[in-house]
Amino acid sequence: MTDTLSRRNFLGASAAALAAGALPARLDAIEAPAVILRGASRPVAISSANSLAPVSKALELVLQGSDTLDAAVDGVKIQELDPKDNSVGYGGLPNEDGVVQLDASCMHGPTRRAGAVGALEGIKTPSEVAKLVLKYTNHIMLVGEGAKRFALSYGFKDEDLLTPESRQHWLTWRANRGPNDDWLDVPKGTEMVVRPTGTINLNVVNAAGDLSSVTTTSGLAWKISGRVGDSPIVGAGQYTDNDVGAAGSTGRGESNIMVCGGFLTVEHMRRGMSPTDACMETLKRTLHMTPDRLMGPDGRPKFDLTFYAVNKKGEFGAAGLFPARYAVASEGNPAAFKDCAYMFKRS
Ligand code: GLY
Repeated sequence: MTDTLSRRNFLGASAAALAAGALPARLDAIEAPAVILRGASRPVAISSANSLAPVSKALELVLQGSDTLDAAVDGVKIQELDPKDNSVGYGGLPNEDGVVQLDASCMHGPTRRAGAVGALEGIKTPSEVAKLVLKYTNHIMLVGEGAKRFALSYGFKDEDLLTPESRQHWLTWRANRGPNDDWLDVPKGTEMVVRPTGTINLNVVNAAGDLSSVTTTSGLAWKISGRVGDSPIVGAGQYTDNDVGAAGSTGRGESNIMVCGGFLTVEHMRRGMSPTDACMETLKRTLHMTPDRLMGPDGRPKFDLTFYAVNKKGEFGAAGLFPARYAVASEGNPAAFKDCAYMFKRS
């Protein structure tokens, strides 16, 4: 991060190490060792399929020398502010009461810090608020009204996050919720039959091998008020270890929480797996932890989940329970879609 706090933090850590006799005495000599990794990695930004513009932006920023977390958050902000993306931020689909509640978390590899917000209302860019929790507090997660007050104290505006389209989707869902409720059904054919879960996970590595990750979402559409998914949970929705790699997920949050999927995927990479194999291994654990009620008669899960990962060298990959695409941009390769590895064909 390019703020003074980060620098203060770094110098504080250096001072502690100095006291322990672990580092040379001159500060200029302390800052030098990071250079030994420069050029060792291929700069990459990898994300979910709704993030072509975000990976492009994040890569552009790290190639210009931006910090990896700043780049990742500036990337996902594009979608959070886009009213047409109904999976995140402004325009995200609301809970069962018609209220948009947003979740986000992030990790900064070089400083080993994390920040998160859950069930945040009225703020278009929860990823930025999660980054502020990381940078300016001694906490990791703020939720609900407290998270909102925290955001407002930094100058964020309290805004209506429903767009005319997302409000209409919610009204349609409410009207067709059940045969015995007091709402008159809207005409056949206008029901939203699927229950969308949209999210963005974006992971970045720069040429020095420094990593960061961010995940942001409006969560499961029509969720019970107060429901928090995997996205703001550090170790589930995303995880970064600057020695190894970064990973995160999109899809059914409850299933990911059960396996701490972001963390588990990084641990698989630590043991030498490629990013794609690591994602697949985490999916196997997910299936193992899935209760029968979430499995179809054909032996396939009734939900979807996809993991995305990059390692310190800049190798990347993704795998889903079902076929999906992901977005990736790497040095010399403009943003493009690629196919995820997958476990089951769609019926
Ligand atoms: N993965 C997003 C959610 O379940 O909320």
